[in-house]
Amino acid sequence: YSSSVAFTEDDVRDKTVVVIDVLRACSTIQAALENGAAGVIPVAENDDAGKYTRSLDASRILLCGEKGGKKIEGYRLGNSPLEYVYDIVNAKIIILKTTNGTRAVTRSSNAKEVLIASFLNLTAVVDYLKKQNTRDVLLICSGWNNRLSIEDMLCAGTLTYRLFDGKLPADATDGTKVAFSLYQKFGENISKLIDSSNHAKRLKAIGYEKDIDFCSQVDLYSSVPVLYQGMIRLN
Ligand code: MLT
Repeated sequence: YSSSVAFTEDDVRDKTVVVIDVLRACSTIQAALENGAAGVIPVAENDDAGKYTRSLDASRILLCGEKGGKKIEGYRLGNSPLEYVYDIVNAKIIILKTTNGTRAVTRSSNAKEVLIASFLNLTAVVDYLKKQNTRDVLLICSGWNNRLSIEDMLCAGTLTYRLFDGKLPADATDGTKVAFSLYQKFGENISKLIDSSNHAKRLKAIGYEKDIDFCSQVDLYSSVPVLYQGMIRLN
């Protein structure tokens, strides 16, 4: 199969899209589902969140999300994966609005399939993609307000390295080459690189340093969140 790494919107039709947002949306989605949430509905705008709160059983849903990294006023939870504990999220449907991560997911909704990736489920994503064979895979790095996030690119590079068993494909795009090289340089020091990233600095400044350690764990989980009819569930 072919695979490429993109940092902005791309043509997603007929592709398997892997949305990467290490800090923190994809890590948070995974933690919520692992801790019992029935599903996560990613939304790009507050209005979309309102639409769901009106149409679903109110007792089952939790409105969650961040702006500037902080919990949106009036919402139940923010975007810290550590907030999504069993006692709060079990059997609930999470409506999640984040600045970049959930936007990247909703923008990919025309893709053949959309997977959610972070370091927390790296091997699960690699295994999932390898099993599907002959697929056109697009790794989308969510980044931060149209800027590149090095932790997302390192995750894309690690996935690429593993998907191609350490050999850069001859037809690799520029994005793939950059991500792959980043893995070659920093693959042994994942948590150090994440810790020194721009977004880690932003999170530390608002008191979320524990999230950085949590999101730096490789293969804490062994499942892949998949988008199906607007809702993300574990495969
Ligand atoms: C995002 O979607 O932009 C991030 O997950 C922001 C955050 O760390 O809360």
